[in-house]
Amino acid sequence: MIFIAGATGFVGGHLVDYLLAKGVGLKCLARSDKTADALARRGVRVLRGDVTEPGTLKDILDPDDIVIHLVGIIAEQGKATFSSIHVDGTANLVAEARRAGVRHFLYQSALGADSASFSGYLRTKAEAEEIVRSSGLGWTIFRPSLIIGPWDGFTKKLMDMIRLLPVLPIPGGGGARFQPVSIHDWLRCAGAVIENPSEYRATYDIGGPEHLTYREIVETLAEVMGRHKLRLSIPMGLMKFSASVLEAALPSPPVTVEQARLLELDNICDTDAVEKAFGFRPRRYQEALKEFVR
Ligand SMILES: NC(=O)c1ccc[n+]([C@@H]2O[C@H](COP(=O)([O-])OP(=O)(O)OC[C@H]3O[C@@H](n4cnc5c(N)ncnc54)[C@H](OP(=O)(O)O)[C@@H]3O)[C@@H](O)[C@H]2O)c1
Repeated sequence: MIFIAGATGFVGGHLVDYLLAKGVGLKCLARSDKTADALARRGVRVLRGDVTEPGTLKDILDPDDIVIHLVGIIAEQGKATFSSIHVDGTANLVAEARRAGVRHFLYQSALGADSASFSGYLRTKAEAEEIVRSSGLGWTIFRPSLIIGPWDGFTKKLMDMIRLLPVLPIPGGGGARFQPVSIHDWLRCAGAVIENPSEYRATYDIGGPEHLTYREIVETLAEVMGRHKLRLSIPMGLMKFSASVLEAALPSPPVTVEQARLLELDNICDTDAVEKAFGFRPRRYQEALKEFVR
């Protein structure tokens, strides 16, 4: 059976659809009645639990399970810190996976995970990777770049900005490079691991076939949406200051200072990383967008 933690999120929701369509047996973790009901209605076996509460994970796994651990946050909020979710949450799930002696453990990290990073997100992703690598379980680690597809939060924010603002704001000139990958291509990689876990015991960068600057990403999206607008460079200092004000004022700000700083750094891997590891060429950004952006 495939066990998914994080099945109620963007990536997890697509993975549930993909595996149900293939007739694969699924059990998924859910934290609330609402998400539990939604999963149950789709014929998924639901287990109630929270990765930060080890008691709720007790006896949820079996020796035959393949665990897909997708739980993660991109901004801290209250008790949900990068450390509690990524590090403690992964340690708790790994402990239960070890108790059960599961078949395989796939952990979704992030491109650029680095224990020396200024970013708490990337630092704790690297710490979680280490927990998985030293678990004694059969493991795979994915380090994806931006994953795009229906309901992805990043594209949605950019689309709202393109629709609502009279000009396209580009923080700091938008020169940092990224490597967006389609959710459909991510699913093909995950599907390969699920089908043949012992063939994929390593850490894999998952990125699209192009390095694109933030500016090119915004411009391509605006073009696919058929909106042609003037660009306006926003000095990075102003962007960070605005983010710090929003962070102080709002419980869930649209952008954090850490996220603004991440927009200054390249976040890329080899353009043929997926082809080398999984044997197919992922879609280009524009092609991927055309599948879901109107
Ligand atoms: N999307 C990307 O572009 C991208 C790129 C690189 C890496 N990643 C990584 O991929 C993973 C999935 O990303 P996503 O975009 O699908 O994120 P998402 O939409 O925010 O989903 C996060 C999932 O984690 C669950 N979760 C959060 N805290 C939890 C807790 N304490 N216990 C149990 N479940 C908890 C959420 O459940 P609720 O529904 O209950 O909140 C949700 O199912 C994350 O680890 C992320 O860091 C994503």
